[in-house]
Amino acid sequence: MPDPAITAKALRKSYGDFVAVDGIDFEIERGECFGFLGPNGAGKTTTMRMIYRAVPITGGTLTIFGHDAGSANDRVIKRLVGVVPQENNLDEELSVTENLDVFCRFYGLSRKEAKERAASLLDFVNLNEKAKSKVQELSGGMKRRVLIARGLLGNPQLLVLDEPTTGLDPQARHNLWDRLFALKRKDATLVLTTHYMDEAEQLCDRLVIMDKGKIVTQGKPRELIEREVTRHVVEVWHEEEKAPELPEEMRALVRRSEALSDRLLLYVDDGEAAISLAARHWPALESRLRRSTLEDVFLKITGRRLEE
Ligand SMILES: Nc1ncnc2c1ncn2[C@@H]1O[C@H](COP(=O)(O)OP(=O)(O)OP(=O)(O)O)[C@@H](O)[C@H]1O
Ligand SMILES: [Mg+2]
Repeated sequence: MPDPAITAKALRKSYGDFVAVDGIDFEIERGECFGFLGPNGAGKTTTMRMIYRAVPITGGTLTIFGHDAGSANDRVIKRLVGVVPQENNLDEELSVTENLDVFCRFYGLSRKEAKERAASLLDFVNLNEKAKSKVQELSGGMKRRVLIARGLLGNPQLLVLDEPTTGLDPQARHNLWDRLFALKRKDATLVLTTHYMDEAEQLCDRLVIMDKGKIVTQGKPRELIEREVTRHVVEVWHEEEKAPELPEEMRALVRRSEALSDRLLLYVDDGEAAISLAARHWPALESRLRRSTLEDVFLKITGRRLEE
């Protein structure tokens, strides 16, 4: 068996007294798409930054393609890793092409290779027309697309994507997904953070949910859904300030309920039975039956801080 792409043991990062990543363990196989989910401030970006060697680790061990993270190996690791950072760190004064050129030099590409690679990536992110524009003249989503093109320049074995689709229009989002699937077919390893649960469910082979610097649960998306929540959810839509009370006859069916501002979510194993009871009990309200998703897992595990 070849080495895993990444192994982290008791990995830790603190800033002064503040612990941003609090002793996490994970192993990412080569060719896998591995996701990090979690609310704002959970420690996802800090973990990504340790992986792409932008910040030193404070404790534990981190091994990337067999190299121990640490100054002696960081240059080697950086050459193997493509990065799409969460924050735009493009040079605003330079043109799109000039920004890409700087990275081609880092990867040691010849002028001809660099030109071809940059052109094909700008084509992919649909930015040929802006190739000569200064970055400061681009829209937010266009800047994101330049970052994506830049991350792919070195044909990386490992691609770290920190919220790559935030700010992208639906078309650009789907284009990126297609590209990521194609990369995976070529055995690249992908590490991804996202706040879009549908994206995580589609792209990730396995994922972890982090909260307050710790990993709180992990697994394949479908496994997580089966383990953490029921198979079905009945949504009861209401217009009152307060969600309707659960009638006595439904209590035995409902394993857990969650009141959102406009809906009552009822987590049930027997969806058919629950929806027919709901329709009988609340004839004036709209009730819908759906399968549980990763979003339900997220809500359960991390509470509702994001919505509050
Ligand atoms: N350079 C730094 N100095 C001090 N604290 C930091 C630094 N970078 C991050 N932190 C803190 O570490 C915690 C984790 O931040 P991080 O950026 O990893 O969160 P995240 O999970 O990526 O969140 P988001 O979803 O908002 O991007 C936060 O409380 C943040 O304030
Ligand atoms: Mg982040």
